[in-house]
Amino acid sequence: MELILLGPPGSGKGTQAARLAGELHIVHVSTGDLFRRHLKEGTALGQLARRYMDEGTLVPDDVTEAMVKERLTARDAQRGYILDGFPRNLAQAEHFQGFLYEVGRALSAVIYLAVPHDVLVERLTGRRVCPGCGANYHVRFHPPQRAGVCDVCQTPLVQRPDDREETVLTRLQVYDRETAPLIDFYRRLHLVREFDGQAPVEVVTAAILESLGARHD
Ligand code: AP5
Ligand code: MG
Ligand code: ZN
Repeated sequence: MELILLGPPGSGKGTQAARLAGELHIVHVSTGDLFRRHLKEGTALGQLARRYMDEGTLVPDDVTEAMVKERLTARDAQRGYILDGFPRNLAQAEHFQGFLYEVGRALSAVIYLAVPHDVLVERLTGRRVCPGCGANYHVRFHPPQRAGVCDVCQTPLVQRPDDREETVLTRLQVYDRETAPLIDFYRRLHLVREFDGQAPVEVVTAAILESLGARHD
């Protein structure tokens, strides 16, 4: 299965992509996570991306596209993938259609998670992440069993630098301007399936799996 997960910052793309990738046995490709890994490893790409991520704007298209292409041509992505955070503007979407055509592949569906802006601000400012294993939490909606510590690997949780309120507002503006037009772009290709991203995490996952015709064990 070849899937794109579309939705504003905080709509639950990372949360759902991780669950869907596990259920569907496909790879989860998050451009945000890939940039954050480069940043942590101190690569040139990480240095370049930092500036944009810190201010909440988009990393240049050529850099992002090359990184995605490399990831999707890896062996483990041949069985299928779920893209989380890419494409993020019309230029990336058009470029990606060209790439798919070149390699003789096609998208199965574009999953759109709809969530209103006021809910997003609360979700993002309350989000905590595990620097050890990447697990996601929320201080109110999805707290860890022990406050401030990851359930999976016991690492102390941190806040993403771009989850400060002023950066969150920039990210939402960038989404409205650059990314929201992709909903119509993919609607014209009859690929969009819309879900209520305000429902509980398990309910959203089950609805998506059902729509894809995949059984939820
Ligand atoms: P990226 O990492 O992709 O961030 P984002 O799109 O802003 O989205 P988030 O990761 O913040 O939110 P999410 O939708 O994954 O939600 P989550 O599941 O965590 O990008 C970061 C930066 O990298 C960009 O700003 C840009 O600079 C750069 N970048 C990345 N891709 C790029 C590209 N293609 N081109 C150029 N630049 C790019 O959930 C959020 C919170 O809500 C969590 O606390 C979670 O526990 C909670 N939650 C989730 N679901 C529910 C639910 N159903 N009910 C209640 N709470 C929930
Ligand atoms: Mg994410
Ligand atoms: Zn962890």
